[in-house]
Amino acid sequence: MAIDSFDSAVDGLLADAQASLQSVDSLETLEAFRIQFTGAKNGALKSLQKLLGAVPPEHKPAAGKRFNQARETIEQLLTEATEKVSKVSSGKPISSTGPLVDPTLPGLRPRIGVLHPITQTLEHLKEIMGRLGFNVTEGPEIEDEWHNFVALNIPEDHPARDPLDNFYLATAKTILPKSSTETQSSGNSSGGDIAARLLRSQTSTVQIRVMESTPLPLRIISLGRVYRPDAPDATHFPMFHQMEGLWVDKNVTMAQLKSVLRLFATSYLGGDVNVRFRPSFFPFTEPSVEVDYWWNGQWIEFGGAGMIDPNVFTAVGIDPEQWSGFAFGLGVERLCMRRFGITDIRDLYRSDVRFLRQFAS
Ligand code: PHE
Repeated sequence: MAIDSFDSAVDGLLADAQASLQSVDSLETLEAFRIQFTGAKNGALKSLQKLLGAVPPEHKPAAGKRFNQARETIEQLLTEATEKVSKVSSGKPISSTGPLVDPTLPGLRPRIGVLHPITQTLEHLKEIMGRLGFNVTEGPEIEDEWHNFVALNIPEDHPARDPLDNFYLATAKTILPKSSTETQSSGNSSGGDIAARLLRSQTSTVQIRVMESTPLPLRIISLGRVYRPDAPDATHFPMFHQMEGLWVDKNVTMAQLKSVLRLFATSYLGGDVNVRFRPSFFPFTEPSVEVDYWWNGQWIEFGGAGMIDPNVFTAVGIDPEQWSGFAFGLGVERLCMRRFGITDIRDLYRSDVRFLRQFAS
């Protein structure tokens, strides 16, 4: 091949490349450009290289030089084209062939999931009670009878201890290592089968754990799961959450209990809330009350409360002559359902994201 023809082939290729560059505006056209000019099989550069082979030897050095320049120019054009397309895809490097991102379109908030309404409620309750000076504490969900019953002044023959009303675990004495059985027995003054384990039926267990281990005075809340073998219906579920509160100090009164519960309800449910105490009975409080809130035109029962029974203080080694206190236990699901307008507790635990997503915070 004559050197002139080779030169004009190079010129033609460069002119083509310049022209094609104008129409590169997407990943697809960029890829087409790359294949057309630098493709390993039939790319224009490849064809030019073949022509180079046919140039007479005396012109080879000059022709080779032109070929190399042409290749560099094409590579330069390819870089420019890539940059041009990258700009369209909001500055991100092109890593794959996919639809381009158009940064001028209005944005969509990514759907990354929402907190479960109960989780939201727990956080909210902690925040409100934190402002009232209550520290958050946690206790285990698997409990022994000492913390779930005995220290709470619930005697052996009390109906609350009926195996049919509790989730007892397999007789723990046989499966627990000896050392842990011993630890659990310490502090037990009743001498009963303290090694038996159950899923706690109330968060009042944490009252005992806290009083056993915390210097007085103290003011805590504890939120968590409790378990009772109830048949599920719109208002019952075998697992639910409680918020336990405990305040122990020198002169704690029932009036303070009512104030705290009222302040809490006002913060949580809104301004227009009243609190009502109805006489009741719990083995670990005396006097004991049921707590109702007047909200949206009706009285709703939220839990129990009362002044710590002297027997409970004695069980944990606190002198009831010197110290006084109150405790309350509220149902978290009820609080959550009221606030979010949920009418069936089972909806909370069906794990249906279509339902749960409605409660995005
Ligand atoms: N533990 C009681 C229950 O589950 C509620 C309660 C807590 C009552 C604290 C009095 C004091 O029903």
